[in-house]
Amino acid sequence: MQTFSRRGVIEALATLAAGAAAPRAMADGSTLGTIAQGVGVTFGSAAGGQIYTDTAYEKLFAETKLVASEWQFKMSSLQAQKGVYDFWNADQLVDYSARKGKTLKAHCLFWQANNPAWLTGLSTADLQYVFDKHIDTVVSRYAGKVQIWDVVNEPFWPADGQPGGFGAGPWFQAFGQDWVKRAFQRVAAVDAKARLYLNESQCDNNAAGLGVAIRPALLKLVGDLKHSGVPLAGVGLESHLDMGLPYDDAQFGAYCAQLSNLGVSIAISELDVRDFTLPDAIATRDKMIADRVQKFLTQALSTRAVDQVVTWGLSDKYSWLKGLWQTQRGTTFRQPRPLPYDDQMQKKPCWNAIAGALRSRPRA
Ligand code: XIL
Repeated sequence: MQTFSRRGVIEALATLAAGAAAPRAMADGSTLGTIAQGVGVTFGSAAGGQIYTDTAYEKLFAETKLVASEWQFKMSSLQAQKGVYDFWNADQLVDYSARKGKTLKAHCLFWQANNPAWLTGLSTADLQYVFDKHIDTVVSRYAGKVQIWDVVNEPFWPADGQPGGFGAGPWFQAFGQDWVKRAFQRVAAVDAKARLYLNESQCDNNAAGLGVAIRPALLKLVGDLKHSGVPLAGVGLESHLDMGLPYDDAQFGAYCAQLSNLGVSIAISELDVRDFTLPDAIATRDKMIADRVQKFLTQALSTRAVDQVVTWGLSDKYSWLKGLWQTQRGTTFRQPRPLPYDDQMQKKPCWNAIAGALRSRPRA
């Protein structure tokens, strides 16, 4: 006879009570979404177009309470041509998340990278016009349909040598160091209800010029924004854990506490693992990845303000790191294994690591 743990029953009942479709469950009926919900965390994942074409992959999203747009809300998708908007992909994800009763996190209004080519060479005045027009057009369209905006993505890049460690790019050119504040203030003026997030990479590592430089810069910016009364609800720490870089998970946990003290929610916003430097053997690699994820998340979740964990996809099959691996190594004899499910949509030790870290968090 199958036995159920008390926690498993509670989590399964939470799911049924939420009216969610029967999630892809473990033997005791729990999913990452219900496990997370039990300890005051929202679990989600980034969704690309594959959720409409691969039913086995879409079924995995029953684990989630939130979907983040992988690319559908980026300027390169919404406004590939200057002044010409294409909302089709974004609208499709709005419909999907509404139909599934999930929170929609629209990533991202502004990024210094990955921008449409037509931005290059615009005058400062033109860039300022594009910036304001993009907010007014896009945010007004999705008011009430997008619950969370990643307003600004990756404002810092110390290697660019700009003041304050800011990344060079069209928006820094347009408004200088105030570009981030300006973005949040204008978005809030268009949609006062959406929760507005600032998203940054690298903060999980101790690499010189990366995490070591970006963490203090981000902490200062968040403090300045909060002290200026900017409606900053949360900070996303991407957490693309690179096993080839130095890291100290306890230090990361302490950094989450510092951010929390500034009065923001914290999201582990793009969790996956760059395993490029790990051994080929899959069992060995999977265990090393799972160990790092569990230790990292356990530390992060020790700060109550960490209330959102979002993986950057759910299956290795569609990870963005495949493209990066191909570009950097030009080989297919092995593929990255960054996510909770493998290419065949089977659970991996990484799934257990995320579940374990969530379960180890003291209950709310
Ligand atoms: C990536 C997407 O996953 C890819 O599909 C796209 O081609 C490039 O961008 N940090 C971020 C995300 O904030 O927006 C990036 O997503 C991954 C790195």
